Amino acid sequence: MKFEVKAGGKLNGTFRVPGDKSISHRSIMLGSLAEGVTQVSGFLEGEDSLATLNAFRAMGVEIEGPTNGNVTIHGVGLHGLKQPENELDVGNSGTSMRLLAGLLSAQSFDVTITGDSSLSKRPMRRVTVPLAQMNTVVETNDNGTPPLTIKGGKKLVGFHYDMPVASAQVKSCILLAGLYASGETCVTEPAPTRDHTERMLRGLGYQVITEGNKICLTGGGSLTATNIDVPSDISSATFFIVGACIAEGSDITLEHVGVNPTRIGVINILRLMGADITVNNEREVGGEPVANIRVRYAPLKGIKIPEDQVPLAIDEFPAIFIAAACAEGETVLTGAKELRVKESDRIQVMVDGLNTLGIDAKPTEDGIVITPNHNTSPFKSGIVDSHGDHRIAMSFAMAALKASGTITITDCDNVNTSFPGFVELAKQAGLNI
Ligand code: S3P
Repeated sequence: MKFEVKAGGKLNGTFRVPGDKSISHRSIMLGSLAEGVTQVSGFLEGEDSLATLNAFRAMGVEIEGPTNGNVTIHGVGLHGLKQPENELDVGNSGTSMRLLAGLLSAQSFDVTITGDSSLSKRPMRRVTVPLAQMNTVVETNDNGTPPLTIKGGKKLVGFHYDMPVASAQVKSCILLAGLYASGETCVTEPAPTRDHTERMLRGLGYQVITEGNKICLTGGGSLTATNIDVPSDISSATFFIVGACIAEGSDITLEHVGVNPTRIGVINILRLMGADITVNNEREVGGEPVANIRVRYAPLKGIKIPEDQVPLAIDEFPAIFIAAACAEGETVLTGAKELRVKESDRIQVMVDGLNTLGIDAKPTEDGIVITPNHNTSPFKSGIVDSHGDHRIAMSFAMAALKASGTITITDCDNVNTSFPGFVELAKQAGLNI
């Protein structure tokens, strides 16, 4: 699939983007391991979260749906999973692979997890090395990449892990293994990362203790089924937020968006750049903060992005770079080396795309420097390769709002991993896509 987006336009209207990907994954995992029936609403029917759903079905969990975001999970308890007949193929989904590595390393059976060509290049030692300290055996390729082969029948031991990178996937992997380990398992984070695993575990009645940057739980408990309402994904909302920030005359409201403090780096960063974003009707739904987000066009200025915001906006940088290219003055990002090991090398792929569209962007080892050209239409027409990265594709689609000619984006199929219906919603909001 390729996108062809005609230049110009503005975004208007009130709408809802699909469910949060991180929370959708966790709803299937923890609902499957709970005792009783869990009802999920707002579930993201994207390829990534469906990969997790299919993996648990393959391990014997009866799951009804999804139908309009509703999923019913007949939990089998922490010890009720069955050996799948085949390898588990999780496609493009790093979250499925890394979280499953933790919880499957404690089962009685062996299992292999595979992925697509992008996932097959991503680093897995960040989970297999700490897991080995808990007495698990998880094999990778020689260079630490998938597939993962997980040996069953191990007795896991609790472990205190001082995590070297700020990663919610690594944290969650270790905590999920910790559910099965003897004694206490703790993870210390170098910086706060998304805490959906901890929140959902508590929602299902499991005690998780967070003290400063240290998160602990004790193995041997059980999970009790509950209802889970998945808010809209702030990462999907981001494309529209950035579109409205850069296109004169835009005024949008995004409803029921998850605004967990560990996820709102994009709002903090865009506000520092001068964006007009208001967060209204803040409420708590199923243990997660939710709000309506209104965005009106306002001129942006370049900034030095504070490093403490990086883990809080880790998936939003492709879109933030589009905003930076439309700002007055230079934007500098540092401390974001992790962007190089996402679904693509998001620093290099964004630099290449921005350069193609006439923007002065330079990669650094751990970030980027973007020097805008201050034209009324800063992007020129061109063909951008998204390298199969969903967030790169959707970010460049929004750039067309401020382009002098059509922008074509190739290799866009993976938009369906996180945002089914993106094209329709973008059209409805005013993008000429
Ligand atoms: C995720 C954590 C982040 C994020 C990813 C989803 C999660 O990855 O980039 O899209 O659901 O835990 P890292 O843990 O690698 O930072």
